[in-house]
Amino acid sequence: MSEAAPVRLERREGIGLIVVDNPPVNALGPGIREGIIAALEAGNADPEIRAMVLIGAGRSFIAGADIRQFGKRRAGLPLGGRTYDVLDRSAKPVVAAIHGYALGGGLENALACHYRIAVRSARLGLPEVLIGILPSGGGTQRLPRLIGPKAALEIIVSGRHVPAEEAARLGVVDALLEDGVDLPAAAVAYAQSIAERRPLPRVRDMPEKLAEAREQPGLFEAMRKSIARRARNQKAPYHCIAAVEAACTLPFDEGMAREQALFAELENSDEARALRYAFFAEREAAKIPDLPKDTRAREVRSAAVIGAGTMGGGIAMCLADAGIPVKLLEASEAALERGLGRIRANYATSVKRGSTTEAEVEQRLSRIETVTEYEAIAECDVVIEAVFEELAVKQEVFVRLDAVMRPGALLLTNTSGIDIDAIGTATRRPQDVAGAHFFSPANVMKLLEVVNGARTAPEVLFSTMQLGRRLGKVAAVAGNCDGFVANRSRAPLSTEMVILLEEGALPEQVDRVMVEFGYPMGPFAVGDLAGLDIGYAGRKRRAAANPNARALPIADALVEMGRHGQKTGAGWYRYEPGDRTPRPDPEVARIIREFATQPREIGDTEILHRLLFASVNEACCILQEGKAYRASDIDAMWLHGFGFPRYHGGLMFWADGIGARAVHDQIARWHQQYGERWAPSALLRDIAERGALLREARP
Ligand SMILES: NC(=O)c1ccc[n+]([C@@H]2O[C@H](COP(=O)([O-])OP(=O)(O)OC[C@H]3O[C@@H](n4cnc5c(N)ncnc54)[C@H](O)[C@@H]3O)[C@@H](O)[C@H]2O)c1
Repeated sequence: MSEAAPVRLERREGIGLIVVDNPPVNALGPGIREGIIAALEAGNADPEIRAMVLIGAGRSFIAGADIRQFGKRRAGLPLGGRTYDVLDRSAKPVVAAIHGYALGGGLENALACHYRIAVRSARLGLPEVLIGILPSGGGTQRLPRLIGPKAALEIIVSGRHVPAEEAARLGVVDALLEDGVDLPAAAVAYAQSIAERRPLPRVRDMPEKLAEAREQPGLFEAMRKSIARRARNQKAPYHCIAAVEAACTLPFDEGMAREQALFAELENSDEARALRYAFFAEREAAKIPDLPKDTRAREVRSAAVIGAGTMGGGIAMCLADAGIPVKLLEASEAALERGLGRIRANYATSVKRGSTTEAEVEQRLSRIETVTEYEAIAECDVVIEAVFEELAVKQEVFVRLDAVMRPGALLLTNTSGIDIDAIGTATRRPQDVAGAHFFSPANVMKLLEVVNGARTAPEVLFSTMQLGRRLGKVAAVAGNCDGFVANRSRAPLSTEMVILLEEGALPEQVDRVMVEFGYPMGPFAVGDLAGLDIGYAGRKRRAAANPNARALPIADALVEMGRHGQKTGAGWYRYEPGDRTPRPDPEVARIIREFATQPREIGDTEILHRLLFASVNEACCILQEGKAYRASDIDAMWLHGFGFPRYHGGLMFWADGIGARAVHDQIARWHQQYGERWAPSALLRDIAERGALLREARP
């Protein structure tokens, strides 16, 4: 069907159905605009047609623009020649019939129709802000006219998907239909019921709701204030507000011109380019190169988690949240009780925050069953191990799993650093073993690093990636090496930040620089949250294995004083009881002075570059060793594992902004100054010499 024109006009009982048929989601690609306009004109000219319906074929209405078109030169559209303008001019009414997604340009087309009907499962939204731009098909002008500026602002500035039911309550949707209805037939019936109604309700001519802005003159300022933290360093959210403000102060056509002007300022901004890149990096990360064509994911209907500690509990929540029944196994009832207690407390917090309901939580909890015997999990399709980080303990667990699990079960480990192959060889089926490395808190952080062991079967890798997707994670593949890809690429940053203290910086200075760069928290505050004892144990282990490993005496001193971070009330900062606010501590400054023998003033740019270049260099080593498929996977990991500011695109994308050459040369200078830890990676040197992009680096 899709080889035919992407838009067709069907005639049914006096109604013209304009069917957009551009699989998979009817994105507004080439030919769609012209097709809709031609169909509208044909429908208006046809005396047999009384009204029209705009509808999508397949599983969705129009899911939005093709993002690849942004930032490229496009043929200018003739004034008044966009689908929205032609819909506005239509003499016959047009009903948008929505199922699946009506996003961005899709919703804007629906807003230019005279009526909108939607099935309950549909999602509507204007998510442009999430890629650094704003709705530029009149969305910022029509939505406030339809539902009032306040509700429109919230939707446009958040970019969220609005469920059809809420859209109906707000007045975006005129009639809500049950799922499973024959949508074309229902739309034809609806169109017949309104076919003769005049005047046509054109959203552009609805001024009433705009009065809200006059009644609440502080509305826009309040909105700007409310996003100040979250939208730090970004333009698009503020431009969205300015566009809605224009809807309230200017006549429609002038408002449209203002929307265009604001859009033009954003389209090629650094922020929009970075956000578009991040969008594609996430999608690309899902792809496994050279996966045999006939690879099929193993079905996962039930799961088991071994260990109900911090991670095991969070992983069980993820599975339950995704509707997968899960058996949680611990050695003792007491440990299970403790684990379940933590899960309940976490859910209670979500209810308090309003992100879920009591009833929903009950349902999720009912999917979690606690067990102490391996026989009880034998039939599960996947098992995720999250016991103590000790090879012997993990091997023992895998021996038992091998003995009981049904053939074909996925055997996954959440280890943060143990060799996957050493775990796999404890079983007689290493092909079924892979890493499923969640980040803490596992039910919140979106990254899932899927670790590919030397003997992991492609089908198992693929199935684990698919499972990650089902859990709502951004999953990316990592090779089996110390720290895998995410933590390994971040490790040099963690070392460098402490070395900066030896040169005279303070934790609060480093944290301020990173927060100003866009991180939600500085790395020292993050360290206090995670616990400093973990890094300490890692350093001791590495020092035992490698006498040349760089010691971090300041960090060691704190831990040896019992300052383990927030949980002990003190770490890099001090904490008041019951308060998580990090407070600079003179005691820490004193310890730093003891070690900083020749303190100097360190500039903000040096701090930023020392931390991030160290990681860029390591990321290049990782790629060179073939432990990641592509540089953009590392960027996706930083976005979802470490809170790297999305409007910088990712570590490697950001470094490209400085340029591989400049990054390399600086690293080479630091190599001279500081020695081996700054030895430039050969891949980095090569990229710099070729004038290529770091973000496009591959093994
Ligand atoms: N905490 C993190 O930030 C983090 C992040 C990613 C991965 N990990 C990894 O996840 C794993 C678990 O870490 P955690 O922080 O949840 O530890 P934890 O100490 O909170 O939990 C471990 C749990 O495993 C249970 N356990 C130990 N041996 C067991 C056995 N033989 N059978 C059944 N249960 C057993 C313990 O009773 C405990 O409840 C480790 O491999 C760790 O490296 C941790």
